[in-house]
Amino acid sequence: MGRKTVLLLLVGIFTAYYVYTPLPDNIEEPWKLTGFNLIFKTISNVALVGELLGINHFMNTAMFLMSLQDVPPTSDETVTVLDTTFSNVPVPHYSYDILSRRTANRLDAVVISTNYRLAPKYHFPNQFEDVYNALKWFLRQDILKGYGVDPKRIGISGDSAGGNLAAAVTQQLIDDPDVKIKLKIQSLIYPALQTLDMDLPSLRENSHFPVLPKSLMVRFWSEYFTTDRSLEKAMFDNQHVPVESSYLFKYVNWSSLLPENFKKGHFYSSPTHGPSELARKYSGFLDVRAAPLLADDNKLRSLPLTYVITCQYDVLRDEGIMYVTRLRNAGVRVTHNHVEDGFHGIISIPEFKIVHRVQNQYLSWLSENLYLTPTTPTPTTAAPTH
Ligand SMILES: *[C@@H]1O[C@H](CO)[C@@H](O)[C@H](O)[C@H]1NC(C)=O
Repeated sequence: MGRKTVLLLLVGIFTAYYVYTPLPDNIEEPWKLTGFNLIFKTISNVALVGELLGINHFMNTAMFLMSLQDVPPTSDETVTVLDTTFSNVPVPHYSYDILSRRTANRLDAVVISTNYRLAPKYHFPNQFEDVYNALKWFLRQDILKGYGVDPKRIGISGDSAGGNLAAAVTQQLIDDPDVKIKLKIQSLIYPALQTLDMDLPSLRENSHFPVLPKSLMVRFWSEYFTTDRSLEKAMFDNQHVPVESSYLFKYVNWSSLLPENFKKGHFYSSPTHGPSELARKYSGFLDVRAAPLLADDNKLRSLPLTYVITCQYDVLRDEGIMYVTRLRNAGVRVTHNHVEDGFHGIISIPEFKIVHRVQNQYLSWLSENLYLTPTTPTPTTAAPTH
């Protein structure tokens, strides 16, 4: 073999290895997912190389490349979009994207999408506070009246990091004496809910699954608290929680909180502990406003009617399921939609058939549960997006 042939062969093997993604049989449109995965993987790799070369922070490049597909906040024949601010937080009304438009259209609702500040420039609790302040500003009689919104039919919804914020602000609202108007429902779409255990069965099973591998999830988590990569490393190795905080592990104990079928083939091992120094410097990762699964039962008891979507092939699956278990144990009414052939992103990537199925289920649930009396004014969904 000539040198060229060897090179060609090597390039061929590398390409095949880079493109090839083993997928389970029940994934619909596997080639499409392989294609999307290739795009996400490449974005992530370009961002990593840019960071290694010292050109730009990983999160900045990744966000820039992802934002190329954003839809601008413009009105169309059925949906009116206003680009405004609530309490200095930008909130385009309707525009996370196509889904917010569909929601506004199908439910005839006012949809508020909060444009919270992002990492790496801003860290926790800024993101939480942006969403919370915007929501508080909105939940006032005079403001709601101005938008023609019925105070009894307001819901919050978010996916992924947005699901984290939705769950966190909903908890925070319960005991806030300044807010008289409460949420009727919360909808959490494959939410990120816990920072303590990075070795859940779903993280083990899907650590390389398309769209959101474990390495990226851990990176996102650690960037929420700091740009210091030592937290990321400790989280990835699951050695970040100091021994003084071990009492919190009962809230994320998958051995007791997951149904049998999700534990199959896995052995629970008690978490190992990390240095107190990390928790002292970046205490946010032990804060219930960052990890809503750490709330105690007393807090959970007062939460509103809840809708949770989890996906079988998602690193975030088990924390969503454990939240369902904990909410039900606390007496909260929960509709749990576990999507057996679902993967992270199935609410917002319109190119997939499964997305339309899941969106329809979600919108039907919202419309049934936000409309108590059919003739009152417009319901609202406030959506902290990812
Ligand atoms: C988790 O739950 C299992 C089974 O209920 C129990 O044996 C174990 O001690 C628990 N671990 C922690 C850290 O709570």
